[in-house]
Amino acid sequence: MLQNPSSAAPTAVRLLRYTRAEQDEILGGGDDPFGVAATGLSWLPKEDHFGVRQGGRLVAHAGLLRLSVAIGDTGTEVVGVGGVAVAPDVRGQGLARLVIAAALQHARTMGPSHALLFCRPPLVPLYRRLGWHPLDLDVRVEQPEARVVTMPLRTMVTPLYDNARWPSGPVRLFSLPM
Ligand SMILES: CC(C)(COP(=O)(O)OP(=O)(O)OC[C@H]1O[C@@H](n2cnc3c(N)ncnc32)[C@H](O)[C@@H]1OP(=O)(O)O)[C@@H](O)C(=O)NCCC(=O)NCCS
Repeated sequence: MLQNPSSAAPTAVRLLRYTRAEQDEILGGGDDPFGVAATGLSWLPKEDHFGVRQGGRLVAHAGLLRLSVAIGDTGTEVVGVGGVAVAPDVRGQGLARLVIAAALQHARTMGPSHALLFCRPPLVPLYRRLGWHPLDLDVRVEQPEARVVTMPLRTMVTPLYDNARWPSGPVRLFSLPM
């Protein structure tokens, strides 16, 4: 029987769990699969997970969690996006776009008006392409032992609602980054 080609299109689903084993399934077991070890930062695990499976194999992931922040003098919340990963052999096929879209669809149900992520500078054009905007200011984040440091990676945000506007002012996360 011929398979309907549309049924083979990849779809993103919510994952019931995402541990180091699932991350290794996507990225392999390397020491620094995200290329951020040189920052020396400690990171939060994500709470909600979205993924793409192909042939029973997990090939893409994006995670979410709600974060408390201050923007200028105002305390608010954002949805942090992290752990975005696509298996090396299936990159360039739109799977990051797909899995991030699924994560942001869920983020729109969580309340905050923006999502925020941190990325290495070479990934800024990719995230711009997906509708994210770099924040060209210092972002302060917490680290162990009550330290507060300036995030050395780029910070990018995207609105979760049509009329959402990012407020002006310095940004401070009241947690580890994600
Ligand atoms: C970064 C990563 C997730 C990208 O995954 P991917 O599946 O190759 O990305 P996609 O194919 O979905 O590409 C997303 C979009 O960015 C575009 N894009 C990719 N590289 C680009 C670049 N250098 N400049 C501009 N746009 C770019 C793609 O064309 C695509 O847009 P389109 O759908 O309109 O064509 C993947 O390379 C990866 O897992 N890297 C290792 C882990 C990592 O660094 N994660 C990021 C953590 S912030």
